[in-house]
Amino acid sequence: MDPRIDRVADRIAAAERVVVLTGAGMSAESGVPTFRDSGRDPGGLWDRFDADEIGTAGGLLGFLISKPWEGIEFLKDLRDVFAAAQPHAGHIALTELQRAGRLDAIVTQNVDGLHQQAGSERIIELHGTFARRRCVLCGLREAVDRASLLDAFDRMIVKLGSYMVAHPAHLLDRCVCGGLFRPDFVAFGEAVQDLDAAVEAARSAEVMIVCGTSGVVYPAATLPGEARGAGAFLVEVNPDDTELSAVAHERLRGTAAGVLPGLAARVRQRLASVV
Ligand code: OAD
Repeated sequence: MDPRIDRVADRIAAAERVVVLTGAGMSAESGVPTFRDSGRDPGGLWDRFDADEIGTAGGLLGFLISKPWEGIEFLKDLRDVFAAAQPHAGHIALTELQRAGRLDAIVTQNVDGLHQQAGSERIIELHGTFARRRCVLCGLREAVDRASLLDAFDRMIVKLGSYMVAHPAHLLDRCVCGGLFRPDFVAFGEAVQDLDAAVEAARSAEVMIVCGTSGVVYPAATLPGEARGAGAFLVEVNPDDTELSAVAHERLRGTAAGVLPGLAARVRQRLASVV
């Protein structure tokens, strides 16, 4: 038994407010490729497509229109990722911690909706989500279920393949106001969503668990420092060292699905023995 997990479980069981910050590594075992450890996944999505080129909204649309065949491959891969992704044991463990009253909020950089799918609540999606679309003209936001998302991908793929796309307006659905709908995720260069709520959650945390993020993308990467500065006990769950490892009080070297279920089980043991 790893004594570090017991120490972290003690902290969580005793804390009033526990907050989790997740990044792409949280979804890796659900089949969603991470951005910055493509070495683990040669030939994977971000090994074949340049995240820097298509990471901005304009860059993505320009790529799809100027390189339609590569664009089709990219959209097919992304579609397949969304079609197959299911929450894993780590997501479920966070939901269980929350149901046991031991997890206040999840701040996530992920856009895949897997925390919601696992039944978690109070999720702050800093980088938005593909489970919603936003009109770029009037700002109307609408929920998008998985079937509609996959259908939107399929329609884009067919349009690109038909050579009929010379302008983004040909690719995207229209709002009743006449504006174009885009997925409500945050691309590079755009403002993150709900930052105030995320900072507030970080500053009020007694324990922050940082799982599956490289800690190189800002402002998300400032949140562990905010939490620690306000007195939180900081725990990192990640198989590798990251930019955030040095500020963590405890480093649990393993994957989300490997570490979080055992941690949640030990917290539950402690809560049961208190009653
Ligand atoms: P990165 O791809 O930068 O980092 C993924 C992290 O997850 C690395 O530290 C890996 O070691 C770790 N990891 C890999 N597999 C894991 C597993 N099974 N369990 C736990 N950890 C694992 O992802 P982020 O830090 O989320 O932004 O990147 C931040 C942002 O950069 C993303 O939200 C996205 C991207 O550009 C936008 O889309 C705006």
